[in-house]
Amino acid sequence: MNELVSEILKLKKAKNAVILAHNYQIGDVQDVADFVGDSLGLSQQAAKTDASLIVFCGVHFMAETASIISPGKKVLIPDLEAGCSLAATIDAQQLREWKKEHPGAVVVSYVNTTAEVKAESDYCCTSSNAVKVVESIPKNKKILFLPDRFLGQYVRAVTGREVEIWNGACHVHEKIGDINFADAQSQHPNADFLIHPECGCSTSCMLKSQMHSGYKNVKIFSTEGMINHVKNSDIDEFVIATEVGIIHRLKKVKPEVDFFPMSEKSICEYMKMITLEKLYDSLRYEQFEVKVPHEIALRAKLPIERMLSIV
Ligand code: 13P
Ligand code: SF4
Repeated sequence: MNELVSEILKLKKAKNAVILAHNYQIGDVQDVADFVGDSLGLSQQAAKTDASLIVFCGVHFMAETASIISPGKKVLIPDLEAGCSLAATIDAQQLREWKKEHPGAVVVSYVNTTAEVKAESDYCCTSSNAVKVVESIPKNKKILFLPDRFLGQYVRAVTGREVEIWNGACHVHEKIGDINFADAQSQHPNADFLIHPECGCSTSCMLKSQMHSGYKNVKIFSTEGMINHVKNSDIDEFVIATEVGIIHRLKKVKPEVDFFPMSEKSICEYMKMITLEKLYDSLRYEQFEVKVPHEIALRAKLPIERMLSIV
């Protein structure tokens, strides 16, 4: 075993720590983690772990969420610069102004938001439960969905609800558009196409998959939904439309099948900031602690708990 990995494992044991890693982390970090998953799965793990120290190998809003739901635990992120372009598209002041324009509307925030924005929200959701969260809200209520416009359009199309959508997008996923999709379909006519709802092509693909038989092999999934689909499928070729880090995990789950990224350029530089060296330093020096001010955490907890209860 690599010396750095064995030092990380020793430190982890000595400090009663747990390492959580998102599906987009580099392979070396995924391999040393106790749990690898999507935003929802990682939040659930953070809530139920009895470890006193959580090292969150993901981006800042994810570590904030862990800290809010586990206030008695110390939550670390190995690099404080690991942000999220999507979460950065709306701040709490902008949300307060948007709410004023739509009095009485219910605010549903995708988990890719800051703690301050969550504190102004009624519900949070992840890509795996966004539709169920919206369906759980009384039918007569207008919904403000933020910040991802593609996920918002997807949710509006599936639920048929009155949904106002914030004009945000992830810089990685919005580039995965209809052109990539058409090219990949002609190159891989027998593959299943697994598409993250943040992608630029997700809404049109979802609608086409309901209307045209040629789109039956198109599925919209959160990152963990993709893993589960592959586990339970007999197909031996998949085209993956999301950040390429997930292919490491998919290959481990089913080494015998072929995975092709929709675009090899789909790399989230924020997720890739976490390295084994930074993970080691994080454990050793207990850096960098992610703490949410008490008053914000208190208000952000309810929408997060609602998200965790709707799976
Ligand atoms: P998942 O919740 O599907 O893992 O997505 C998180 C994310 O940041 C996608 O870009
Ligand atoms: Fe944020 Fe996009 Fe990176 Fe996901 S892939 S963490 S949405 S910047």
